[in-house]
Amino acid sequence: RFSHLETAPPDAILGLSEAFGADSNPNKLNLSVGVYKDETGKTPILEVVKAAEKKILEEEATKGYLPIEGSPEYAEDVRKLVFGDAVAQDRTVVVQTPGGTGGLRVAADFMRTQLPQVKVWMPNPTWANHPAIFMSSGVPTETYRYLADDRTSLDLDGMLQTLRESASAGDVILLHGCCHNPTGIDPSGDDWKQIAQVVEEKKLLPLIDFAYQGFGDGIEQDAVGLRTILQHTDEALVCSSFSKNFGLYSERVGAICLVAADAENATAARSQLKRTVRTNYSNPPRHGASIVATILGDPQLTAQWKEELESMRQRITRLREQFVQTMKSTGSGHDFGFLLRQRGMFSYSGLTPMQVDELKSKYGIYIVGSGRINVAGMSESKMQYFCDSVASVLS
Ligand code: LMR
Repeated sequence: RFSHLETAPPDAILGLSEAFGADSNPNKLNLSVGVYKDETGKTPILEVVKAAEKKILEEEATKGYLPIEGSPEYAEDVRKLVFGDAVAQDRTVVVQTPGGTGGLRVAADFMRTQLPQVKVWMPNPTWANHPAIFMSSGVPTETYRYLADDRTSLDLDGMLQTLRESASAGDVILLHGCCHNPTGIDPSGDDWKQIAQVVEEKKLLPLIDFAYQGFGDGIEQDAVGLRTILQHTDEALVCSSFSKNFGLYSERVGAICLVAADAENATAARSQLKRTVRTNYSNPPRHGASIVATILGDPQLTAQWKEELESMRQRITRLREQFVQTMKSTGSGHDFGFLLRQRGMFSYSGLTPMQVDELKSKYGIYIVGSGRINVAGMSESKMQYFCDSVASVLS
């Protein structure tokens, strides 16, 4: 029965980590998957997470199931973090999901059953897993222009024009709340206002992927785009992740938040989201959400978390600067100054698929085929080797 199966290609992002593991090059460097690493190349557990886990270990009284929609304390913390005071509490639904990806899959299944006529408009480019998730749920997708021809900036006019001319009223627009993946190119505050205008004009339903809150300019600053959009529409979906900003990658902790026009709509939507969850994975795992709720429920731990998050963010900025300087010193003649305008873990380097392949085979350096580099995986000590290798494939 399985003899007709064909081997699927490796995942465009996670498949590279598998290949990296098998590479025997002693200088190898993995700048593919979006994971923060410290100077020693490790993905550290935040001190504040360790402190919260100690508390949980002492106080946790049960391993019984969580409700289908997850922990209520966690949901309230997520609501405040994402929306602040931007939306009335009774118009929001927050459902805990296994990571941001789990939230996106719940969103996609919810659309398929409850909004069967919609198409999802995704930026071009977008995270490689976005189209795959919608396809798995049977939700049709289209793309809107995002990257300008210089490949280092946003083509706002092109984006707005595609949406104005081609999107239908009621369609879904997928937006990256901050730290656009894969390009690192975000709309400015003014750009967000123009995007919000089109959302209103075309009655689009925003689906905001918000996986990097705090990695761009700060926790509140990174929510500005999302909250601008919410001034122009009374319905939205937001998928949050705490993989990155709490370093809780393997705990799979995220959420889908739904904003409805009123409390009655919110109640109906909650029941449908719960149905989607029940038929997918029944109810979410407890531990990661307990960590987040323990931290956000304690002012001292919250302050410590903000400090640790800030130091990760600042380190990424320093690595961007060091990369640009070191590239300059190689004399390759390529100016990577545009990386300083980009935000979050990723940047689009402009390297071609052939150059990406050469980096891998000759130097053991792994970046995504599109040329996306995980800046948060760079290290000061390996910067020279990395930049010399990039300069060599560019020559
Ligand atoms: C990435 O884009 O590298 C991250 O979002 C991790 C993943 O699951 O792909």
